[in-house]
Parts: sequence; C-alpha cells; structure tokens
Amino acid sequence: MTKLAINGGSPVRDVKTNPWPAWPVWDEKEEKALLEVLNSGVWSYNGPKEVEFNKLFAAFTGTSYAVSAANGTVTLQLALEALGIGFGDEVILPGLTWQATAATVVDVNAVPILVDVCADTWCIDPKEIEKAITPKTKAIIPVHLYGSFADMDAIMDIAQKHNLYVLEDCAHKHGGEWNGKKAGSIGDIGSFSFQLSKHLTAGEGGVLTTDNPDLAEKLDALRNCGRRPEGDAYADRDKGAGVYSDDGNFIQSGNYRITEFQAAILIEGLIRLPEQNRLRDENGIYINSLLHHLPGVSPMRRDKRETKEAYFNFAFRYHKDEFKGLPVEKFRKALESELGIGVDASYEPLNSCSLYVPLTKPSRYKLDEKHWEEIDPSRFKLPVCEKIYKEESVCIHHKILLGSKADMDMLGEAIRKIYDHADELL
Ligand SMILES: Cc1ncc(COP(=O)(O)O)c(C=O)c1O
Repeated sequence: MTKLAINGGSPVRDVKTNPWPAWPVWDEKEEKALLEVLNSGVWSYNGPKEVEFNKLFAAFTGTSYAVSAANGTVTLQLALEALGIGFGDEVILPGLTWQATAATVVDVNAVPILVDVCADTWCIDPKEIEKAITPKTKAIIPVHLYGSFADMDAIMDIAQKHNLYVLEDCAHKHGGEWNGKKAGSIGDIGSFSFQLSKHLTAGEGGVLTTDNPDLAEKLDALRNCGRRPEGDAYADRDKGAGVYSDDGNFIQSGNYRITEFQAAILIEGLIRLPEQNRLRDENGIYINSLLHHLPGVSPMRRDKRETKEAYFNFAFRYHKDEFKGLPVEKFRKALESELGIGVDASYEPLNSCSLYVPLTKPSRYKLDEKHWEEIDPSRFKLPVCEKIYKEESVCIHHKILLGSKADMDMLGEAIRKIYDHADELL
C-alpha cells in the first residue's frame, strides 16, 4: 500500500481542514487607512503617508534616511545611479540571487561580476569577492538571501581596503540584524522590496536607506524625475556636488514614485512586522533544531553574528545520497504533497538564468564589442550556486513560519515520512 501523499496516500497535513497561515496579513486597519487616502484625494506625490512611512522605516532600520520608490528593482537601479556607477565600472554580486540584482547593474551600463556563494549560507563568499576585484571595481552588492545574512564584517573590510561602495540588497531581510545592526544600515545604501511575497508588502513597492545625506538627497531626486526634494528634509545641505544640472536645480531621471495607497498599507504592515519577525525567528530556530536531527537534510548555517533573523523563504539543504539517490525535484514534489504548500528550488544561478539574458537586447546594451562580451553571464563559473540550485535547495514561503510549533513539527514529520518511504519514488 502506498503511503506517500504524492502517490495517493494521506498527507501529513490536510490543508482543506487545516490551512497554513495566510499571506498577506491585513485587517480593518488597512481598510481604514486605504479609505482615508481615497477620501483625501491625495493619492500620490510626497503625500503625508509616504512622508510618514519614510520616517518610520528609517527609524525601524536605524538609518538617518529612507526614500521609498516603485519596487525593489528600481531601488537598486537608483542606488547605483546615486553612487555614480556607470559605463566602465564593475560591480561584484552573488551568482545566486533574483535577476534584478544583476539586471539593474546592466541597466546603468556597468558590468555585473558574478561570484560564487558559501555552500552553507547561500550568500556571497567574501573570498570570491577578493579574487574578483580589479581596478574597475566600484561596488559590491551583498544579498541577504532567504534566511541568511551575508558576512557583512568581511564585506565591509574588503570594501574599506579597496575603497568600494557597498549596496546591501535587503529584499529578503526587513528587520534582520547583524551584530545588532539592522540590514540596510551597514553598507552605504540598503535596498528593500515590498512585492507581495516579501515579509513587508504593499503588493509592490520598495525603499532605500542610508545615513549619508548627499546620497539621500540624490535618491530622493532620482525617484522623482530629477526634481529637487521638497520640504525641509535636506534644506540645510549644499546643492549636491556634481549631481544637479549647471543651474544647480535638476538631474535627469524618471518617475519611480510610490502611491499613498502603498504607503498607507506599509505603515500598518510595519507596525506588525517586529512581532511577525519574532515569531518567524522563534519557529525558524525550532525547526532548524529538528532539521539537525533528521536524516538527509541540514539547516542553513546561522552565523552567531545574526542577532535577529528575518525570513523571506524558509530554506534548507537536501542531501540526495542520504535519500538513496532520490533527486531533489522529486523530494520537493513529495514534500509539497505532504504539506499542501509550495516547495521551490532556489533562484537559478545567474550565469544560466532564464530571466537574466542581457544579450537579448543589443539595441540597448551593445555599447561596444568589449562591453557586449563583458556582460555575457555565461562567462562566469559558479559551481557552488549550480550545486545548490540543481541538487540541494528546498525553499518554502515564510508564511509557514507564522504557524505554531505543531506546524513546524509537521514539516519535520513530512521529511521523515519521505525519507522512510523514498523507495516509493525511486
Ligand atoms: C534579492 C532580490 N532583489 C531585488 C528584488 C526585486 O524586487 P521587486 O520585485 O520589488 O522589484 C527581488 C525580488 O524578488 C529580490 O528577491
């Protein structure tokens, strides 16, 4: 008789009667805030909700400035522009990340240098950064991926030694802390996404954080068609050196603003976030302690310096050899059937990622033959990223961590069940 749910057996969790926690989370507070915006007629453009959210998010991350924008892709692009990165520059970033981290580098005419990640955290490997530095290197973009933090001590040391900018891609790390410092407050600029799957969301949206008033002023101008920032936020500053046009007023840019509806939802979400993060961290520690004792899987390594964890996906590592050679794809499908929740692979490594294909756009990126060859992602070797993607990665949406300890036990039970019945799938 078959036991595994994927073969018709009973699942570990029947989601019809026992659903997982829902995402996104909202209640009458969001409804009230949205109606307030609707009735005010101020639906966008430096409105009171946006101004308030920026202040709250800066305080939340312990930074001096936060500047919100349309999404976590344009935030990366605007950050690169504010740092003055462009043609002839190289930017080092991990080969395992969402395509936007690299695509935005190409969009500002610079060259993404893809390097390998650490096998046990899936974040950029500082040793690989060192090897990739050339006289053209201008910046490093560490990505705090899923439930892990990039080694910010090592990265900041390298940046200081080689005089490089650090742009933290914090799309997965709202509220995570490294040595007591919030993600987005360690490098020169932090970039966050509020897309629907993220653990602070307005459907879409993004924000940039920095302690540097010159950068904050540039970012503010860049997200608003190049206009000088309004109000008194930067009133006591000199007119930005070299960023504005000759008359000192404007710079070239486009419209990357968020709406008041987004800001209204974000304010309410930000109030909930610390408690949600606390619960996810507590459940993450609990389930990781179970994973330590289960055969064929291992938790991501949590560095002692990660004083607060923030999860986008809950990820862990699968070891096929201990599962009688069962391919990870089959394991993920079986786990999905047992739990009734999506179980995915990691991002595709960027040297062979179906959505990171800059060479499909010669009319935009073929600035010269050399640049064209330099932006070809296939020139980079990323063996660790490839092994993670093809053989090891198991990723589940962070909503699973909003459940109870009994819910976490079910994840452990499902893994054990597949291990015990792996023969059914071989
Ligand atoms: C690591 C990373 N950076 C950037 C982004 C881009 O954010 P957005 O979808 O808001 O444009 C994402 C989105 O998934 C991401 O995961």
